[in-house]
Amino acid sequence: MIEKLHDRSPLFAKSSQPTPAAIRKAAGIIRKGGLVIIPTETVYGLAANALDEKAVERIFLAKNRPKNNPLIVHIHQLEQVYQIAEYFPQAALKLAANFWPGPLTLVLPRRPSFPSIVTAGLQNVAVRMPAHPVARRLLRQCRLPVAAPSANLFGEISPTQISHVSSQIRSHASMALNGGPCRVGIESTVISFVENKPVLLRPGGLPLEAIESCIGSVIIPAAEKRAGRGSPGQIGRHYAPGTPMVVISEGQLLPVTGRFGVLRFSTESPTGNAVAVETLSADLCKAATDLFASLKKLDEAGLDLIVVYPVSEDGFGRGIMDRLIRGCRDQSLDEPDAPKK
Ligand code: TXA
Ligand code: MG
Repeated sequence: MIEKLHDRSPLFAKSSQPTPAAIRKAAGIIRKGGLVIIPTETVYGLAANALDEKAVERIFLAKNRPKNNPLIVHIHQLEQVYQIAEYFPQAALKLAANFWPGPLTLVLPRRPSFPSIVTAGLQNVAVRMPAHPVARRLLRQCRLPVAAPSANLFGEISPTQISHVSSQIRSHASMALNGGPCRVGIESTVISFVENKPVLLRPGGLPLEAIESCIGSVIIPAAEKRAGRGSPGQIGRHYAPGTPMVVISEGQLLPVTGRFGVLRFSTESPTGNAVAVETLSADLCKAATDLFASLKKLDEAGLDLIVVYPVSEDGFGRGIMDRLIRGCRDQSLDEPDAPKK
């Protein structure tokens, strides 16, 4: 079942497929405690052996990531869940059977023997089986659970192409595997199974509707309540470009002065005097794929402001709007100990 799902996922340009020797080398680096930049179908990750505390420490250092922000553990076989989690609730197993490998992360009760540095001391652990063929081959060769956050500096936009990985992250990694542009483009959907009912901790690359059609309704906490539910990564300002950003509604007026850029999902949305415009597809699955690359382009255009048109918060729109709203810098939800930009 799982292999079949994998076979159905669209593949990547042959030219960007690392050789078997490169994947073997990367697996060796991870096994010895080094860091490797890896492609996944959602975003690029910064990978280390989840069982090696020193290696995991290096991830936090490379990203300037606060130690209270837990990491996702990546696996290639369902059976590995039992080495990481204390138990596998029926509904979580059902989601895994239907959507793994894929852009879905399950938060489960942690086995006491599993390194707590990975989970930031929490009793729960986040697990995901990625679908990208390079990630799958690498994980198979590692024969270890692999901790991998997105390969960006803390609070910044996640890379969806190898060329978008910052020099700081590269300088901490011993190797980077190029798997081409990421097909999904936003991070995995995170669902927690440690309360009485499943809880959405992060909308992402697997639409909530698909999850609910499989296991029934899921609790959707307000964004500012997610941190209190064990997901401190869900702080307000995150996925943020360096340029101030604002989401406006269709009726609202654009600025009349200043160097501003526009991110929109329809050629009909007015752009006024914008000096840079990025138009994403009205097909929000496609828009998600290109979202971070477009934000990055606008961020590099020397603008005073990025003006974003909203999309409806269902399907892929839920994950897109989550990233856009949290990318606006002047929100009041900032975590007190988050590094200031
Ligand atoms: O698509 C993805 O999930 C990517 C690729 C590389 O797999 N990874 C990713 O990792 O986005 P990161 O570290 O950037 O985001 C992990 C999110 C954070 O919001 C974090 O708070 C949450 O997952 N998380 C991780 N472990 C958790 C836990 N034990 N309990 C609750 N939330 C957790
Ligand atoms: Mg991240």
